[in-house]
Amino acid sequence: MVQISEVKDSNTRDSRTAAHTHIKGLGLDERGVAKAVEAGFVGQTEAREGAGVIVDLIKAKKMSGKAILLAGGPATGKTAIALAISQELGPKVPFVPIVGSELYSVEVKKTEALMENFRRSIGLRIKETKEVYEGEVTELTPEESENPLGGYGKTISHVIVGLKSAKGTKTLRLDPTIYESIQKEKVTIGDVMYIEANTGSVKRVGRSDAYATEFDLEAEEYVPLPKGDVHKKKEIVQDLTLHDLDVANARPQGGQDVLSMMGQLLKPKKTEITEKLRQEVNKVVQKYIDQGVAELVPGVLFIDEVHMLDIEIFTYLNRALEATIAPIVVLASNRGMTTVKGTEDIRAPHGIPPDLIDRLLIIRTLPYSVDEIRVIIEKRAKVEGLPVSPEALDKLAQEGSKTSLRYALQLLSPSGILSKTMGHASIQVSDIDEAESLFLDAKRSTKVLESTTGYL
Ligand SMILES: Nc1ncnc2c1ncn2[C@@H]1O[C@H](COP(=O)(O)OP(=O)(O)OP(=O)(O)O)[C@@H](O)[C@H]1O
Ligand SMILES: [Mg+2]
Repeated sequence: MVQISEVKDSNTRDSRTAAHTHIKGLGLDERGVAKAVEAGFVGQTEAREGAGVIVDLIKAKKMSGKAILLAGGPATGKTAIALAISQELGPKVPFVPIVGSELYSVEVKKTEALMENFRRSIGLRIKETKEVYEGEVTELTPEESENPLGGYGKTISHVIVGLKSAKGTKTLRLDPTIYESIQKEKVTIGDVMYIEANTGSVKRVGRSDAYATEFDLEAEEYVPLPKGDVHKKKEIVQDLTLHDLDVANARPQGGQDVLSMMGQLLKPKKTEITEKLRQEVNKVVQKYIDQGVAELVPGVLFIDEVHMLDIEIFTYLNRALEATIAPIVVLASNRGMTTVKGTEDIRAPHGIPPDLIDRLLIIRTLPYSVDEIRVIIEKRAKVEGLPVSPEALDKLAQEGSKTSLRYALQLLSPSGILSKTMGHASIQVSDIDEAESLFLDAKRSTKVLESTTGYL
């Protein structure tokens, strides 16, 4: 029997690199037209608009099982656009970013690793009507008693929780295990939470807005006092991914005795996730969907540096895209004609075999003009908190168009440090010269190597 309880939250998404912190979205207007400078993005308008269309298609659920390729030179914003897509989709749609080379590991078969990421990028929204106790916490008192097993120390025998809703209040006397979950959710007095009557699982909804005037440094979500009675039926929406279900069902639901607890410690993945198990999970999922309890949310699997994949993975990918349940796959590559990895002589654009290329929608990213580079550097400097003089900005922009945007961006932080040690109020041209003399760009570095055959 497939169970859906005991699944951890899969919505922790942190961005892979801090290099893109200035990117906040695609920066399109309501007609989907890219504004020249918006949401941290500068230029690259066609690619952004193309990405916007794809976001719309994904939101309308018309896109599953399709693949998109972001193609363009180094540092033209491919990775940035992919991240912007994820920001546009919001936190409820799974977005799984990986780099091609991540699929190779000694422990896990590469196609297996790909399949796992596939399943991570397919969400399932489950709606259930449950009996809950919901309200603003007015009291939270653990009751202690002597440890029944003797010895010193006390144990918590009960916890008294007071809940207030718009229609009334209730005081509950709960099991200590529930107290643990309350602590895990970091519930304090003045928060709104609910407790499921059957399972005892606890969920913090937010801070009651009666407390909204308090000084609060951290961003806090304020919620109104729950309507109706404290004890009621409530529709609960849970977002998880197919991979969460696979894991929950592969792992033995361990008991509380010492032996099985040790077993869990040593072998966290006792049962492997097999194709058979996945099929079984799929069957149950399909049943839930038919019953209207669950809804499929195809998300995005982003594979950066796709030329790192080999022919075997490509073949597998092709087939996986054809499955009834598939995410949208976004690929990115900065390569031109390259030999497909794992073959001797198949040369193909971006190192992608022709049969996959055929089914791709391709978005092209173009090199930036000096002016665009200047604006991007300016934005980036602001994010990093580095003041730059206008002449120095011009210089960096020139440098960027001569070498690459990334090199110019990378010069920013060392120049900042050098300018500080020189006591400059902002980064000057001389600081950049200094940084450039310390750090080579790729072209100069190659030149040095060419002229110094002998060592290295
Ligand atoms: N149009 C843009 N507006 C603002 N910032 C940008 C833009 N394009 C790129 N950047 C920034 O420039 C840097 C390089 O871009 P990014 O990493 O997206 O390039 P890429 O196309 O993925 O390159 P590569 O092929 O080398 O992986 C990043 O810090 C990115 O945030
Ligand atoms: Mg990239």
